[in-house]
Order: sequence, then C-alpha cells, then structure tokens
Amino acid sequence: MYRLALIPGDGIGPEVTKALLHVLEALDIEFDYKLAYAGDACYQDTGTTIPDETLSTAKKADATLFGAVTTVPGHKSAIISLRKELDLYANLRPVKSYPGINCIFDDLDIVIIRENTEGLYSGIEEYTNEGATALRVVTRSASERICKFAFQYAKKTRRNRVTAVHKANVLKKTDGIFRDSFFKVSEDFPELDSDEKYVDLAAMLLITNPNDFDVMVTTNLFGDILSDEGAGLVGGLGMVPSANIGDYNALFEPVHGSAPDIAGLGISNPSAMILSAVMMLDYLEEPDEARKLESALLDVICENKVLTPDLGGSSKTMEMADEIRYKLLKT
Ligand code: NAI
Ligand code: MG
Repeated sequence: MYRLALIPGDGIGPEVTKALLHVLEALDIEFDYKLAYAGDACYQDTGTTIPDETLSTAKKADATLFGAVTTVPGHKSAIISLRKELDLYANLRPVKSYPGINCIFDDLDIVIIRENTEGLYSGIEEYTNEGATALRVVTRSASERICKFAFQYAKKTRRNRVTAVHKANVLKKTDGIFRDSFFKVSEDFPELDSDEKYVDLAAMLLITNPNDFDVMVTTNLFGDILSDEGAGLVGGLGMVPSANIGDYNALFEPVHGSAPDIAGLGISNPSAMILSAVMMLDYLEEPDEARKLESALLDVICENKVLTPDLGGSSKTMEMADEIRYKLLKT
C-alpha cells in the first residue's frame, strides 16, 4: 500500500485527477490517498495558495500527484513552493511520440532534465528606479547535483548521450559554472557521450533534428521553455507528463496548466496526467504496473474511437478514462 498525496488544484486539474483515480483503481496496487489543497481556489478559502498542511502531507507521502493550478500574479506559486520546500531538484520531462498521435516527429524519445530550484526562478526580483531586476542564481552544488542526476538517469535507462544546454558564451559566470559542473561530473561517466549546445541553437535543433538529442540537462528557465517546445513536437500539452524528483520526495504532474479556456467543459485530455502516474509507478519501482497503464492508454489512443477533442475526437474526459479502465480490467 502506497501513501499518495493528491493535490487536484484548479481548472482542469480536478478533472484530470478524477479521470486518473478512476483508471488507477483498476491496477493491482492499492493506494491510500490523502487529499491536499493548493492554488487559487485554496487561496480564496484560506488566504494562502499553499498551506503548511499541504506541504507536510506531501513530505510524508511516498509520492505526490499534482493536477494543475491557476497562478494569479502577485500570489505565491504553489508548485514552485512545493518544488523548493521538498527540494525536488530534478524536473524530468520526457518528449516521446506515441503511435496514433498526430506528431510532427513520430519516432521521438528524448528526455529533458531541468534544474528545478534556482536559476531565473529563484524568486529574487526587485523593482528599481528604472524598472525591475531578477537574480539568476547558479550554484556549483545545485549544478553538479542536477548533472549527476542526468548522467545517472541516462545510465539507468540505457541511454547513450547527455547534452548540456546553456548560454555560457553570454552568461559567462552563471552558465560558466553550470557548464564546468557538467563536464566535471561527466568524467565519472566515461561510458556515456557528453556534449554541449547553446540554448538558442538547441531550440532550433529540437525542431529540425530532435533525434540528435537523447538526454538534455539544463537550467530552470531554459528547461521550462524547451520542454513546452518539446510538447509541441509530440502532440501538445495534453500529452506530456513530468516528474519532480528529490532525494526524499517526488511529485508527478502534467506539464500543462489549469486551462481556464476549457475548464468545466469536461473535455480535457487526461493523458498527460495518466502518463505522469506512469512515471510515478516507475519511481515507486512498479514497472509492470507502469507498462500496463501506459499500454492501456496507448491502446485507446491507437483505436482512435474514444478521444478528447484535442486528439481529434469528440469524447469527454471521463469517457476516455472509462475506456482506459475497461482495457486495464480486461488484461
Ligand atoms: P495551459 O497549459 O493551462 O493551457 C494552454 C493551452 O493548452 C490551452 O488552450 C488549453 O486549453 C490547452 N490544454 C492544456 N492542457 C490540456 C489538456 N489536458 N487537454 C486539452 N487541452 C489542454 O497554459 P496557460 O493557458 O498558459 O495557463 C493557464 C493557467 O495555468 C495559468 O494560471 C498558468 O499560470 C497556470 N499554469 C500552471 C501550471 C502548473 O500548475 N504546473 C503550469 C502552467 C501554467
Ligand atoms: Mg511551463
């Protein structure tokens, strides 16, 4: 029995979470869920976007599932607080094309690993007389830690190459430290190829030659942007999951946000949330259940009958979840 913290959040977050739970019930594993609150609706009720109780529930859980939240400018970001408080320093974002999905590339299987705790998202911003400044914090320890994670991940998942993505020619000090840390760590992994790309070139190559990449490791903002670009290559935001991993905790969430434009219509694509749970099952070392869940989802996608509108279908979120559950119960 695994103890899971469940943070549905706002907008389509609760919808895709409900769809996921419906599907997870059909697996041969038992979960004990603890519901926790975060986001904008939580702020309206409690005066904070991320109550201490939510943080402690997530800290105590074997893993956390997070839907999506609406972020209001000026309010503390719930997801960034969770990443920081739980020290979830590695953000894993697979860019994988699945058969049956209308992808720009149909043979892609790369992973973007984004440093999750510092960089331009350290939250140190201030107004000046002229405008405002934001501090880009890059430490040696965090850089070495994320690069080591990337090499270990590549080794464990039998990948061949790790590419550091940075802009050390302009950001000489901050990205200079990131780049040096990468090559220092790479010496401990002689069996893996290591190379580097400037972020602007990497953004172009991701569109023209994405298969040249295998594992990419980069700083916070670059990773955020490149992973949404990656999502565009493999069927859009409804299809891409992510994992936030630290030494003691892990949180799994779709890359997409709360999608206010479709919230309440019951038509959000549950795939990104379900694939996030697949990543969670792998993290919990339940690979058989992970593959079962992934295959059930892929079967439904390939059959092309019960799909949400973003995938070209006309079904509702829960209809698609029902179909995936049905496939699982048949296996
Ligand atoms: P978004 O990801 O919510 O939506 C972008 C577009 O993709 C919309 O047209 C939406 O309908 C579509 N989309 C997203 N997920 C989908 C799904 N599962 N099925 C079908 N279509 C889907 O990004 P946006 O609009 O920039 O942000 C909306 C809100 O979400 C904002 O408040 C933003 O701050 C927040 N946000 C929260 C994140 C999180 O909780 N981790 C991440 C990104 C944004
Ligand atoms: Mg993003």
